[in-house]
Amino acid sequence: MKTDFNTIQVEMNAGVAVFIMNNPPVNQLSKHFIEELAAAFKEAYADDAVAAIVVVGTGKNFIAGADITQVQKVENREDILGPALEGTRFFSSLETGPKPIVAAINGNCLGGGLEMAMACHYRVAAKGAHLGQPEVQIGLIPGAGGTQRLPRLIGLRYALEMITIGKPIKSEVAHKRGLVDEVTDPDHLIEKAIEAAQRFTGGQLNIKARMTRNQHHWIPSAAEKKAMMDFTKAMVAAQSKGYMAPMKAVEAIDRGLSYDIDTDLEREVALFADCAVSDVAKNLIGIFLNTRAAGKLERIKGVAPAAIKKVAMLGGGVMGSGIVNLLLQGGFETILWDIDEAALEKGLASVRKTFAYPIKKRKMKQEDLEGMLTSQLKTTTDLKDLGEVDLVIEAVVENMTVKQDIWKQLEEICPPYTVFATNTSALPITEMATILSDPGRMIGLHFFNPAHRMMLLEIICAEKTADDTLSTSVAFARRIKKIPIVVNDGPGFYVSRQLGGLMGGAVYLTADGVDGAAVEQAMLNFGMPMGPATLSDLTGIDINYHVNKTFEKKLGERYQVHPLTELIFQTGCYGRKTGAGYMDYSGDTPVPNPKVTAVVEKYLADNKVTAKEMKEEDIVAVMLANAINEAAYMMGEGICDRPQDMDLAMIYGTGFPPYRGGILRYADAWGLSNVYQQLLELEAQYGIHFRPAALIKEMAEKQKTFYEN
Ligand code: NAI
Repeated sequence: MKTDFNTIQVEMNAGVAVFIMNNPPVNQLSKHFIEELAAAFKEAYADDAVAAIVVVGTGKNFIAGADITQVQKVENREDILGPALEGTRFFSSLETGPKPIVAAINGNCLGGGLEMAMACHYRVAAKGAHLGQPEVQIGLIPGAGGTQRLPRLIGLRYALEMITIGKPIKSEVAHKRGLVDEVTDPDHLIEKAIEAAQRFTGGQLNIKARMTRNQHHWIPSAAEKKAMMDFTKAMVAAQSKGYMAPMKAVEAIDRGLSYDIDTDLEREVALFADCAVSDVAKNLIGIFLNTRAAGKLERIKGVAPAAIKKVAMLGGGVMGSGIVNLLLQGGFETILWDIDEAALEKGLASVRKTFAYPIKKRKMKQEDLEGMLTSQLKTTTDLKDLGEVDLVIEAVVENMTVKQDIWKQLEEICPPYTVFATNTSALPITEMATILSDPGRMIGLHFFNPAHRMMLLEIICAEKTADDTLSTSVAFARRIKKIPIVVNDGPGFYVSRQLGGLMGGAVYLTADGVDGAAVEQAMLNFGMPMGPATLSDLTGIDINYHVNKTFEKKLGERYQVHPLTELIFQTGCYGRKTGAGYMDYSGDTPVPNPKVTAVVEKYLADNKVTAKEMKEEDIVAVMLANAINEAAYMMGEGICDRPQDMDLAMIYGTGFPPYRGGILRYADAWGLSNVYQQLLELEAQYGIHFRPAALIKEMAEKQKTFYEN
């Protein structure tokens, strides 16, 4: 047989053809690769010298899914239906084919990869390999047999869990559940797979008996199935609000799992196609692809990042301790600096606390933590000990003078290549950098609380930040497994100001007589993790007030603090930390705070405003128009320019619902001329705050969208 394909190399070994699959970057099932696989199997079937086949991947991947860029482009259901049916029939042809096939699962075996492995007659997996059907995470369901073959191998309960949640399992667990037949050391994988193949040719194993379609013992009775599915449907419906795929996957399983698998498979393809053309899938696929592309900026193309080995953390408070966790896990030599021994001790205790969860969950051992602390972490109260670090991250008190004073000292102590990063939440970084003789080395690394859990890292370029400082910071973000979103300096940077824009419409609605509780509910139903009042109570009404005051001072008339906001601030109820804000937290469950309610009622009476019923969709329209307008103003001011990054920042930094794709995706779907009209109406009603940004007007007139594709 032909042994040399673009994406497959075939090696013969005692009558067994070993297909070594190599389709970079992740052995994804692209059109060309599937065609070559089909051709290779055809040749192997026709060649008498081939008695059995082993398929194996390269590097870290067996097959890590399908080429989703091809799915993203599909607009008509019919356009995806044909190719998907072909794919599922191809796997069925392998399963029912004339020669035994053994999957040697060397690494990630995900999505279409697992579907192919399940169509093989035997599965040997390397220890530590991951197997899963993660399709729901990008708005799809398995579309090449996953919903039908997985329950036939591991039973309904585990299959439902794997398919509706999408979390992969390790080969050791897969073995226990019956998804793989053997687990072995990676070094012996091929050898074991060939041995298994020879057991077929030697008669110990039988193709027909091994076909997944012939595994009937897990097929439940009608009554068992109904009980399990009723429960699952209720649970999935509650957990996947806004998402379509989990319920479609449940439907595929519920209506499938019969003794006629080919009909079940065709139904699965139809349900897959429903998902593939949905907006939710497009949004989620977009997020997946944009996440991979985050930080890949024209500005730093070809600018090599400096190697970072040693990092100093200034301040072991709330933020510093979380960042030390990341530094230790990232393998960096770390020095924690703080003002005195007591602060260091407190900081160290906080660092330990950040590891409590993985230790409790047995993902980490106590002795590993101790080992890490001893070998990687030093503490000091003397800035002179930071003479050899590659990067300094500062998270000391939010005070310009304190921060600048430290930077000034460090400039004398650190070598010229050390990057100086501040985690300030609101101080202007361009101004902070003026204290340095080389302001190009300063950048903002804005972590979110809790720093060791939140995936977003907002990277802020000050006016003079050098390209190599940026390039090093982006590479560092990737090393500590953060998603880097790069923006420019300005009040609130991007995320805080955008979140202010998303929640800021609420006060205008309240002042217009709309019930605050209705606004909370509308934002919750829209998919935000909490509404504006709950968020304010959590972050602090005083903090928000001061942020808004800064915007008023720096950004002008449009940002004038609303009179009602002033009155609520004056109550002195600042949220959870004072026991009451919009809500009163003194009892078992929060209730509206009578002080704030009285202020609102008085404001409405003084201004002769009567209570107003407003439909949920209208509330959302006001809130989102305000958010989109704020984004457009920031683009106009040069704070940010990449819609895909802006959307990711809100999703990973604030919990904006992923299935909606982000604020700017939402704007595109709504249509910029509709957004513009809405803003004009709101401006007429509520004043200058809603005046449309020039960019919105222009986009509406030219019928443009934020995203180019
Ligand atoms: P924190 O109060 O928990 O920690 C402050 C740290 O500064 C402590 O290590 C303390 O010992 C040290 N410190 C106190 N006085 C000092 C002085 N005079 N000179 C030098 N260091 C001194 O504060 P947190 O929350 O960790 O904030 C630190 C920085 O991170 C601030 O700039 C804050 O704006 C920013 N930030 C805070 C976020 C949050 O959610 N807490 C989120 C993002 C940024």
